[in-house]
Amino acid sequence: IPRTEARRAILSGQLAADGAVCRRPDQKIEDTAALTLAGRPLSWQKYVYLMLDKPQGVVSASRDGRDTTVTDLVREQYPRRELFPAGRLDKDSTGFVLLTDDGAFAHALLAPKRHVDKVYQVLLDAPVTPEMLAGFAAGVVLADGEAMLPAGLEADPQDPCRATVVLHQGVYHQIKRLFGVFGAGVCALRRVAIGGVPLDPALGPGGSRPLTGAELACL
Ligand code: URA
Repeated sequence: IPRTEARRAILSGQLAADGAVCRRPDQKIEDTAALTLAGRPLSWQKYVYLMLDKPQGVVSASRDGRDTTVTDLVREQYPRRELFPAGRLDKDSTGFVLLTDDGAFAHALLAPKRHVDKVYQVLLDAPVTPEMLAGFAAGVVLADGEAMLPAGLEADPQDPCRATVVLHQGVYHQIKRLFGVFGAGVCALRRVAIGGVPLDPALGPGGSRPLTGAELACL
């Protein structure tokens, strides 16, 4: 509820924490206290965790002078939260971006040691080759000499220009650079899962919803 309304409710004695009426708007309340407003339970969340289906052309940042950002897409629903993306997708990539205001959670999720798997669907301008399959399995050395960890690569049996890639690390433009080593270009890239949590197909481009407790536990 808006701040002025909350203030009014508190001053008129409608808010209670663990059954005790609070009358001062500046009163400190424990995170774990059960709150009621006019006798009805109030739910309160310390942090927000959202699954967003990022559309093409939107940047994975909190604010950008020019382009629409992933946080712009949820600002109306969460006007008072300082949400940011936990991990990035390129501007032209689509799919699963996790938005949160829990810095410690995001930090832990992105820690290189955790190796949280990310799954992508890729459309290439050339078919997947045996060299690509062997290279991804062994670990590709990028054009600049940087050695990548082995990554999963599976071609679509119906269309060899389509593939599923599983990354165990996050390096800038990683998938484009991996295929670039084999002379193939990436036409479309979509992240469909993070750490065993699949992107909800019901969301659609720009759609978002809170992660469920089970999904959060997975991460
Ligand atoms: N790899 C890329 O090249 N781009 C992405 O957005 C994600 C992984």
